Amino acid sequence: MHRSLWLLVLCACLDQYDPRPQWERFAAERQLAHRTYPVLAEDGTLPQLAPPRDPVEVVQEKYATFCGNCHGAKGGGDGVGGIALDPKPRNFRDPIWQQNTTDDRIFSVIKNGGPAVGLSGTMAAFGAMFSDEEIELLIATIRKFSAQ
Ligand code: HEC
Repeated sequence: MHRSLWLLVLCACLDQYDPRPQWERFAAERQLAHRTYPVLAEDGTLPQLAPPRDPVEVVQEKYATFCGNCHGAKGGGDGVGGIALDPKPRNFRDPIWQQNTTDDRIFSVIKNGGPAVGLSGTMAAFGAMFSDEEIELLIATIRKFSAQ
């Protein structure tokens, strides 16, 4: 073989040569793998893959998904999904409605639907989509629309 070719082969072998005993190499590789794909956090719990999200932000996104289509992105009762409805979706920016509506009533409407308080059935029950805690946050969101 050509001399420079031998040199190349030698270099390649040296590159992979690891003088540490087998078990030491294995331990080092395991550590590396563990760092990349942690099995358990140091305190024994499952690692947090994503940081927990702000529940207020989550509920606002869910409002946009489940409510805004009818009640409007800013609560004006003017979502496209409500155009053809009769009665119209509630306008949350109406100060008279805000003053005369209790949080308990809003809670029942969202959890059990319009018919639960004698309103139209086009206002569906959302108890399956929102936890009670999320409904409380929804009420706060609805209350804030009037001030915007
Ligand atoms: C399909 C359209 C539609 C969607 C989607 C919808 N609503 Fe409604 N909502 C209505 C209509 C229509 C009314 C008015 C019913 C009536 O006046 O009889 C209403 C009424 C309400 C009221 C007023 C109750 C009152 O006392 O006047 C609240 C609060 C409400 N909706 C909250 C929500 C929330 C929160 C969501 C999302 C989780 C939502 N709605 C999704 C159509 C909708």
